[in-house]
Amino acid sequence: MRVLGIETSCDETAVAIVEAPAGSGPGGSILANVVYSQLTEHRRFGGVVPEIAARAHLERIDGLVTDALTEAGLGLADLDGIAATGGPGLIGGVLVGVMTAKALAFAHDKPFLAINHLEGHALSVRLTAQVDFPYLLLLVSGGHCQLLTVHGPGLFTRLGTTIDDAVGECFDKTAKLLGLGFPGGPAVEAAAKGGDPQRFALPRPMWRKPGCDFSFSGLKTAVRQTIEKLAVEKLPAGDAGAVADLCASFQRTVGDVLADRCANALSLAPSTTLVVAGGVAANVYLRGRLETLAAAYGARLVAPPVKLCTDNGAMIAWAGIERLRLGKTDGLDFRPRPRWPLDPSAAVRV
Ligand code: KG4
Ligand code: ZN
Repeated sequence: MRVLGIETSCDETAVAIVEAPAGSGPGGSILANVVYSQLTEHRRFGGVVPEIAARAHLERIDGLVTDALTEAGLGLADLDGIAATGGPGLIGGVLVGVMTAKALAFAHDKPFLAINHLEGHALSVRLTAQVDFPYLLLLVSGGHCQLLTVHGPGLFTRLGTTIDDAVGECFDKTAKLLGLGFPGGPAVEAAAKGGDPQRFALPRPMWRKPGCDFSFSGLKTAVRQTIEKLAVEKLPAGDAGAVADLCASFQRTVGDVLADRCANALSLAPSTTLVVAGGVAANVYLRGRLETLAAAYGARLVAPPVKLCTDNGAMIAWAGIERLRLGKTDGLDFRPRPRWPLDPSAAVRV
């Protein structure tokens, strides 16, 4: 079974082709995986500009589909389905991906699959690792921070979510305030190397509170105030390590909060497997913290390879395979969704 996956919900234009046996288990092969990152387009604005993103997706998408087919040595006739992110995300970009996938599916008489971007992250671990349902998932990205039990494609129970900012957003903001560039996550992780993680005591919102919800706005504010204070105090010449120390302290604080929330989730919904996915899951320090936590609960931590944590087409193609196997295809009348919760009953409760 071979599915082409298109991802255009934010600032990466990505296309991949994934192959897997027709059964139901984990494990697939990535036959092609091409990503065009729009970093240069957005860098001077310090963040993603939706209109620029949509236009850049439109300019690149056809060429990337051709590149992916060439890389895999396949024609469209060799595919069993065409999948695209159908939401949530920046709607202009989602429209480009969905319309491209629908057109290919219609012209070549293939099933079309509209994939929830979050489901793409949630199931991606099964593309490369032997992980069976159900499992506990910490989904941490630029727009989301949630704990869920994953029962299967389309079957999620949300245990907790952020009441304000997403954790990736907090990394991006910290990097911006420190002038480390965009996207912030990898920049903060690199800057934290060699820094003193205990130097700055930052607030840990929700830490040791019951439940599995998150909050990051207070941490974001505290980072800003710390930077302002350091600027007023005029760093002595010998304090060149302040940026490294602040990044390391920030990262340690995020680690404390994520570990604490996951501990509650493992108590409330015990699981032998804790999965971390989404862009922030690329952070090696945070993976280490979660690994230790999981072990304390007799569970194993599993994460996708670092390059499959940030947005990519392979996770969309894989989710497409999981859904195609179950016959969960979509009509060409599917409407792209700017919002699309994984667990609609939880979204109503909040
Ligand atoms: O999943 P993703 O690529 O896009 C969304 O669906 O949001 O996640 C992007 C987020 C950004 O906020 C980025 O700064 C963060 O993931 N990120 C990281 C790292 N790499 C990417 N955060 C911390 N450490 C990293 N190494
Ligand atoms: Zn994402």
